[in-house]
Amino acid sequence: MNKRFDQIIVGGGVIGCSIAYQLAKRGYQVLVVEANQIGSEASSAAAGMLGAQAEFTEDSPLFRLAQESRALFQNLSEELQAEAGIDIQYIHKGMLKLAYDQQQYQQLELMAMFQQAMANPAYLLSAEEARKKEPGLSKDVIAALFLPDDGQVSARHITKAFSLAAIHRGAVLHEQERVNNLLVERKTVRGVQTAQAVYYADQVIITTGAFGDELLAPHYTTRPVKGECLALELEQPLFQSTISMAGCYLVPKHGRKVIVGATSIPGQTNKRVSAAGIHHLLTHAQQMMPQLSAAKLDCYWAGVRPATDDGNPYLGQVPGVSGLYTAKGHYRNGILLSPITGHYMADIIENKPVDPLYEENFKLDRQVSHKLEKAGEWR
Ligand code: FAD
Ligand code: GLY
Repeated sequence: MNKRFDQIIVGGGVIGCSIAYQLAKRGYQVLVVEANQIGSEASSAAAGMLGAQAEFTEDSPLFRLAQESRALFQNLSEELQAEAGIDIQYIHKGMLKLAYDQQQYQQLELMAMFQQAMANPAYLLSAEEARKKEPGLSKDVIAALFLPDDGQVSARHITKAFSLAAIHRGAVLHEQERVNNLLVERKTVRGVQTAQAVYYADQVIITTGAFGDELLAPHYTTRPVKGECLALELEQPLFQSTISMAGCYLVPKHGRKVIVGATSIPGQTNKRVSAAGIHHLLTHAQQMMPQLSAAKLDCYWAGVRPATDDGNPYLGQVPGVSGLYTAKGHYRNGILLSPITGHYMADIIENKPVDPLYEENFKLDRQVSHKLEKAGEWR
């Protein structure tokens, strides 16, 4: 068995697999070591929204990164179909954010103004216009903001597709193998140790999401924010756009499935789904689309989002250990940010110049200018 690689990636979520694919495509010998199965944590819990506009209310480096990443999805879906034989189920039907009172309407107005100032399409709709677009909407909706360019994918499928595309390009994948330690000599990484073996590489990238923080110094760790979701099955498709209100979203998938998400519970890493969580999701879902009360409850699950103190991911070299990198802390937008993260990290690892705005704001030893106080602050 080969034990020496150019790069070892610790963690096979959407972020690790995207980086593995880009590095393998550039001709490197890559090993991905995954403690469970590919995409078994947050990357299979996600609803798959590409909310590059819907999740942002002001300009920021993360907003810019999200815009760049969203723009990659059309080509990426064709590329991954060719490389991995997987349809990532890219749907480009936009998002509708709903208002139920004047205060929410004013928030939508501000968001529309911001998006238009950024030259993004964003349309404020009256209740009548919104119901013309999606006739099943509740009569209680007073207005909506339509963001036509915010699409969605299947989180599970894109993660699998990145991993198979990486394998197609020569990467090696070990599942059910946990990295217990990093091998570090004289402040330089040499490889990783698992219960089964030792593997060597001059570059190691930690992509363990909300887990595996013991492999990094305490000040570069993430904070877990659990999210519960459920899926409904309809007899007939009821709507096409992703629809959201404060505290809940509905993502219509291929077939007749709708994902209803998601709660935000800071500090929890368990995957227990509470009756209160299900109650919250079903109540809000019916407030948006009353006919959902007749849908079949298909299944429910929880996942853990990896948050950082300022809401920005950690992307870059780990200070103090040569050859060690991380891409972690993508919080609510890891699926959206996965394509750009793959390109960006591959550039950093190849020592290519990257956008200084991103470098300054996503490096590990950045100045944290503001704290992400509440779990749902960037919703
Ligand atoms: P993960 O997917 O958690 O992967 C990390 C992997 O590392 C895991 O597979 C784990 O087993 C492995 N690992 C950990 N420790 C070790 C170790 N020591 N050795 C080996 N392997 C290890 N984002 C969006 O863009 N759009 C959405 O609509 C969206 N919806 C969401 C809904 C919910 C309910 C949740 C929970 C998240 C949602 N997200 C969404 C966020 C997104 O899921 C995450 O940001 C993203 O999946 C993080 O990916 P990751 O690869 O960093 O982490
Ligand atoms: N971005 C959706 C969520 O994290 O629930």
